[in-house]
Amino acid sequence: MERRRLLEDLPQRILGSTRVLAVIGDPIEHSFSPPMHNRVIQHLGLDLVYVAFRVKPEAISSAIAGMRALQILGMNVTVPHKQAVIPYLDEVSEEARIVGAVNTIHNREGVLVGYNTDIYGIQSALRYTAQLDPLPSVVALLGASGAGRGILYAIATQPEVQEIRLFNRTLAKAEDLAREMEEVTGKRILPLPLEASSLKTYLPGCGLLINATSVGMYPKVDESPVPNPQLLDPEMVVYDAVFNPLESRLVKMARARGCAAYGGLDMLVYQGAKAFEIWTGVFPSVEIMRSAVLEVATLRGNLF
Ligand code: ATR
Repeated sequence: MERRRLLEDLPQRILGSTRVLAVIGDPIEHSFSPPMHNRVIQHLGLDLVYVAFRVKPEAISSAIAGMRALQILGMNVTVPHKQAVIPYLDEVSEEARIVGAVNTIHNREGVLVGYNTDIYGIQSALRYTAQLDPLPSVVALLGASGAGRGILYAIATQPEVQEIRLFNRTLAKAEDLAREMEEVTGKRILPLPLEASSLKTYLPGCGLLINATSVGMYPKVDESPVPNPQLLDPEMVVYDAVFNPLESRLVKMARARGCAAYGGLDMLVYQGAKAFEIWTGVFPSVEIMRSAVLEVATLRGNLF
């Protein structure tokens, strides 16, 4: 039933001239990118189609060679390949190189250029969705793995941000990342253990809390990286990069506490919009992209 409803949306206008866009990942079946991009392609009447390919880690080099051979115009890259694709590209943007992750590849007439539009995604979600413009000068970030790394760079490079308190379950990872990003950005980055006692001491004074851990993500929907709501100041804005479920336990908890709180959906939408602009030169409607994602999420009962 779900598949039939989704298929009704498939563009029935694929021609000999149609260029291909794609996302590669493993797993990939539940990606929101195909409906999100195909909806704007349809809306703009472009001769493009966007598909998903499940690529195993050992097949990355052949997938990129295939992109060249088939002249695929653009690809998104998702878990677990964002780092692994880098050596196979011809050029990589400076920010993608620093973060060490590429989520967008543009085939510029045979030259494969890698970008990281996740950085733009979080910056825009905070600026436009959470209406934090400027950002607070002290920001708390939970998580020091792949997602945390990109978000840390995106935040620390904003001129108004002076200090980031970086909490992670494995403190050594936070320490390494803090040292590295302090050097790159010149900002003060404080590594801290992700524990109730350090949250209690160091969350006060943070105007924004961002969760970049996987805690609360499907299927562990009853978990929250912040163990109790008393740790949150109602004045604090909470942004959870988790978008499955759309409203995480942390978001619900923060709202109940009186905080303005947002799920990660718009991060996904804005990274997609930026990628689309890189490929086509057109910045698409984020409203249309968001509504395509919400429709698919609703069909799936908001879990995927
Ligand atoms: P990935 O590395 O692919 O981004 P991950 O291994 O699930 O995903 O880890 C994502 C982040 O969530 C990490 O910061 C991880 O903390 P560690 O560095 O200590 O592994 C954090 N994380 C995952 N499960 C957690 C849990 N139960 N409690 C606290 N943090 C957790």
